[in-house]
Amino acid sequence: MKFIRFLFVCAVLLSSCSAEGDTLPIPKHKWNFEGPTGTYKQDALQRGYQVFKEVCSACHGIKHISYEKLMKIGLSKNVVKALAAEHEYPDLNDEGEAIHRKGIMSDKIKSPYANEKAARAANNGALPPDLSLMTKARAGGPNYIYALLTGYCSAPTETTVTDGMHYNPYFSGRQIAMAAPLSEGQVTYADGTKATVDQMAKDVVTFLSWTAEPEMEERKQMGIKVLFYLLILTLVFYLSKRKIWKNVK
Ligand code: HEC
Repeated sequence: MKFIRFLFVCAVLLSSCSAEGDTLPIPKHKWNFEGPTGTYKQDALQRGYQVFKEVCSACHGIKHISYEKLMKIGLSKNVVKALAAEHEYPDLNDEGEAIHRKGIMSDKIKSPYANEKAARAANNGALPPDLSLMTKARAGGPNYIYALLTGYCSAPTETTVTDGMHYNPYFSGRQIAMAAPLSEGQVTYADGTKATVDQMAKDVVTFLSWTAEPEMEERKQMGIKVLFYLLILTLVFYLSKRKIWKNVK
């Protein structure tokens, strides 16, 4: 009897915990880059980079990606060189003295803050995480980030939103320190695509999925080649076996 009461108390506790921090279920989207033959669309990647650079990079870094890697999304060498040269990096000169030099192609994309303390100080104590691996780091991956970016809404009347926080039903605890970063027409796309919140969110999620796995396309192509090779090999083995054993009854 005691054990049943214990189980009952546990169940009540568990359900009240999950009700407090519960989030809306994340809607699933069909992304071009998913599935065994999925690929990134270069125009979406370039638009996504533009959104990242013009909006998100004010607070977030993508420290695992170097400038030269951006050539993989179709940016020219000159453009990438110029992007790197916009920033300064600490280095040593030939005499061993600390200097600041202009960025070069092999540098990692410069993060907006010098360190975690500076990042927190500028964001009300909250830390804007590095986004390079974000689509792999959160359950729901690209779908979660898309839902987070497009999911801001006004809080239900019974919810009090803490000062400096913003209501977002997809964020754990439903209150996030990041204000809705995207608003209609925030960037002007060079290819004429209309910059709706939905479009910008899809593009930046595509870009952030690429930053999390820039070699995805090569990996998938290699997988298909290996499968094809194994198929041919199986056929060759099968035919040889028939030939070798054909006289044995
Ligand atoms: C003005 C600063 C600012 C801008 C601009 C900004 N963010 Fe954030 N972001 C934050 C802060 C601060 C947090 C930490 C929120 C928290 O922990 O409550 C955050 C958190 C996040 C998270 C992590 C959510 C989680 O589950 O932990 C993602 C993903 C994210 N931002 C994506 C973006 C994207 C994509 C953009 C550009 C479209 C962007 N942010 C623009 C400040 C910003």
